[in-house]
Amino acid sequence: MRANPQRGIVLAMDDVSASFAAGGESRIVLREVSLRAERGELILLLGPSGSGKTTLLTIAAGLRPPGSGTLSLFGRDIRSYRVRELQQIRASRIGFVFQDFKLIEGLTVRQNVALPLRLAGWSGTRIKDRIETLLGEVDMLRLGGRYPRSLSQGQRQRVALLRAMANGGELILADEPTASLDRTSSLEVIRRLAWCAEHHRSSVIVASHDLRMVDSAARVYRIDDGSLAEWHRRPVVSGTTKEPQSTP
Ligand SMILES: Nc1ncnc2c1ncn2[C@@H]1O[C@H](COP(=O)(O)OP(=O)(O)O)[C@@H](O)[C@H]1O
Ligand SMILES: [Mg+2]
Repeated sequence: MRANPQRGIVLAMDDVSASFAAGGESRIVLREVSLRAERGELILLLGPSGSGKTTLLTIAAGLRPPGSGTLSLFGRDIRSYRVRELQQIRASRIGFVFQDFKLIEGLTVRQNVALPLRLAGWSGTRIKDRIETLLGEVDMLRLGGRYPRSLSQGQRQRVALLRAMANGGELILADEPTASLDRTSSLEVIRRLAWCAEHHRSSVIVASHDLRMVDSAARVYRIDDGSLAEWHRRPVVSGTTKEPQSTP
């Protein structure tokens, strides 16, 4: 069988631009952004507030069409999907993690994690098995019956992450997932996101200011005023960062 070189590519953006209408004028917020995301890798988008990170993730999720350029999700141009097909893809193949967790307070941990599976049409038995496996994997079985209000911020984000990967989490989009967390919880969430990529072969795209995420990323991009550029670490020589040669 011939290898399919496209197989690992989950998302491909080519020259995507986006703008918002503001006060009768059009304001460009993404400028010809190109990005590829593959299975098993974590991609980090670093950029200041207002640089376009959330807009990029919203487009990546197929929630907003690109103003221009093309977006392909799971090997198909999103323009070729019907609205219902895109909804089904979001429910069954994409997971979201937000800065403020967005857990439903009236539901237990198990019920929160089950929510996307219900939307994706899984049977009750299959949902039950899946949730127990997931909670067991991250040693959170004892929290399953608790309500979000009784959890720490870090525990809430861990539940949100489980919810994001419950459907298989082929593509996980995380928007500033550590911004509301203390240092210990942030490190835990970073470790878990990297684990989703490594262990579950998810393609994980994280928008963040958090430089501690850099070491977990396969590729790092800087986004500035809507322009995306790959960010290369400076080469490290004998444990020190090599400075550019100064002119003699
Ligand atoms: N719904 C909207 N209407 C008008 N402008 C918007 C809207 N959403 C975002 N913007 C503007 O687009 C720019 C990028 O926003 P955003 O993608 O949220 O950036 P980030 O997530 O990096 O903070 C900002 O200048 C923001 O004010
Ligand atoms: Mg944002």
